[in-house]
Amino acid sequence: MAHATDTTSTETTRRDFLILATGAAGVVGLGAVVVPLVSQLAPDAQTIAAGAPIDVDLAPVAEGQGIKVTWRGQIIFIRNRTKKEIDEALAVDIATLRDPQTDQARTKPGHEKYLVVYGKCTHLGCIPSGTASGEPKGDYDGWVCPCHGSHYDSSGRIRRGPAPLNLGLPPYAFTADTKIKIG
Ligand code: FES
Repeated sequence: MAHATDTTSTETTRRDFLILATGAAGVVGLGAVVVPLVSQLAPDAQTIAAGAPIDVDLAPVAEGQGIKVTWRGQIIFIRNRTKKEIDEALAVDIATLRDPQTDQARTKPGHEKYLVVYGKCTHLGCIPSGTASGEPKGDYDGWVCPCHGSHYDSSGRIRRGPAPLNLGLPPYAFTADTKIKIG
């Protein structure tokens, strides 16, 4: 490689260095590119924390069970509802609700058994119980907030207590029958 003290002009030296440097990077890059492309198929923890969409496989979630995932630092509840829970949610007269919303508006067509909501009470932000097996579900087969007793139904709608709104709905879409992408 040429040096600044060579007899060639400074311009030529700089150009040679750039060409050599680019060539070297290209060779190193050949080996380095393959691994990142593969690993980028699944976002790393840092990327997820920064808000990248996440894929969730719902196949292991049996009917009547729920799971908690985090996205953008927020807890999200996903429940595979029983027929009883769905029927209860559909039977509600929405005119009686504090935050009127149909169950259909809170689920995806063809996937009504799955409810996906933010796990954050709309009163002061506590985490309601009712997702994991054995947790109390409140008086409406949904969730109950341990802080001040807000009860949410099996559609995540506020039914009793100080919370003003239904549990929020994160952006998500089904990418397969039992797979969703959140974000
Ligand atoms: S934070 Fe949930 S009822 Fe107050």
